[in-house]
Amino acid sequence: MMDGIERAACIGGGVIGGGWAARFVLNGIDVAVCDPDPDAERKASAMLENAERAFAKLFGGDRPAPGTLRFAGSIAEAVDGAGFVQESVPERLDLKREVLAGIDATAPAGTVIASSTSGLLPSDMQRGLIHPGRLLVGHPFNPVYLLPLVEIVAGRDTDPAAVERAAGLYASVGMKPVVVRKEIDAFIGDRLQEALWREALWLVRDGVATVEEIDDVMRYGFGLRWAQMGVFQTYRLAGGEAGMRHFLEQFGPCLAWPWSKLTDVPDLDDALVDAIAGQSDEQAAGLSICELERIRDDNLIAVMEALERSGETGWGAGAALKEARQRLRRKRDATGFRQVRG
Ligand SMILES: NC(=O)c1ccc[n+]([C@@H]2O[C@H](COP(=O)([O-])OP(=O)(O)OC[C@H]3O[C@@H](n4cnc5c(N)ncnc54)[C@H](O)[C@@H]3O)[C@@H](O)[C@H]2O)c1
Repeated sequence: MMDGIERAACIGGGVIGGGWAARFVLNGIDVAVCDPDPDAERKASAMLENAERAFAKLFGGDRPAPGTLRFAGSIAEAVDGAGFVQESVPERLDLKREVLAGIDATAPAGTVIASSTSGLLPSDMQRGLIHPGRLLVGHPFNPVYLLPLVEIVAGRDTDPAAVERAAGLYASVGMKPVVVRKEIDAFIGDRLQEALWREALWLVRDGVATVEEIDDVMRYGFGLRWAQMGVFQTYRLAGGEAGMRHFLEQFGPCLAWPWSKLTDVPDLDDALVDAIAGQSDEQAAGLSICELERIRDDNLIAVMEALERSGETGWGAGAALKEARQRLRRKRDATGFRQVRG
């Protein structure tokens, strides 16, 4: 159950919708998925299997009995009785609007509807809805069943109570909701990622580095700093004892040189696509996507557990994990729910 929610609906059950379904089910919520892809059930079940494996490692015997996962033939059937609806269909405004209108017309009164969009504006998506006040963005990060962050973005007509409700619901399934103060394209996370991605594409395009060398530069270096302190606190420390002011004085002028190609976009022509895809195949060294997903999940669990051991309360994503564990333990003690042995 998630703060009184016993049933949720996931409209769209691909990479992201399947991840949401898994997170909800493993937190004890019954989920109905609606997805026209005949292969969606197989994919979502495979995702749930990965998620179960990860949850067993993270929460062991404190896991609640999982909810059920069923596939519905229509949006109306999926949202029937749902206390929360998460939309995760492909990133096209016209499609989102059509699907959201269908959800809004059939979901129970008062049920919050969240869109997983990576960057579309909620104000654009709520145009034409009968109850625009209950629509907001709940933008997760892949894998949804492991990474705690969800960005909540309100549109012009979103009811503040819906934001509060969504934040509570997400926290109750172990997530860290961050409410974005202003409605902007791509929100916070994807703006930052897009900036780095553009630079990385130029570096490959200009023959400066291979995809593997760029990933190595991240994962052996600043990626480790980002995972635990982000960018500002990391730079504060880079300023030495004089802190942030000194850092800004010292490196501020570099911004004008400039060290970045941020506003330019490389042409993704055949040559660049071939180079990136070929180098990426080489980097994978024969490991399948499924094998890489499990390695990724194990690594994320190891990083989060290390951060959980930092200090008394844990640090960053480790603090979120510690809270999730405590919440599940409290719930188990309070309700004596049937535990899953792990
Ligand atoms: N992939 C990511 O890393 C990521 C991260 C955060 C957010 N998102 C966002 O999540 C959303 C979904 O992306 P994804 O990566 O899961 O895509 P995906 O292609 O893996 O999944 C989309 C699913 O929607 C289904 N679908 C299509 N039309 C539908 C309809 N009318 N009703 C119900 N289902 C329908 C498709 O069959 C497919 O299974 C997008 O808005 C995307 O921007 C993606």
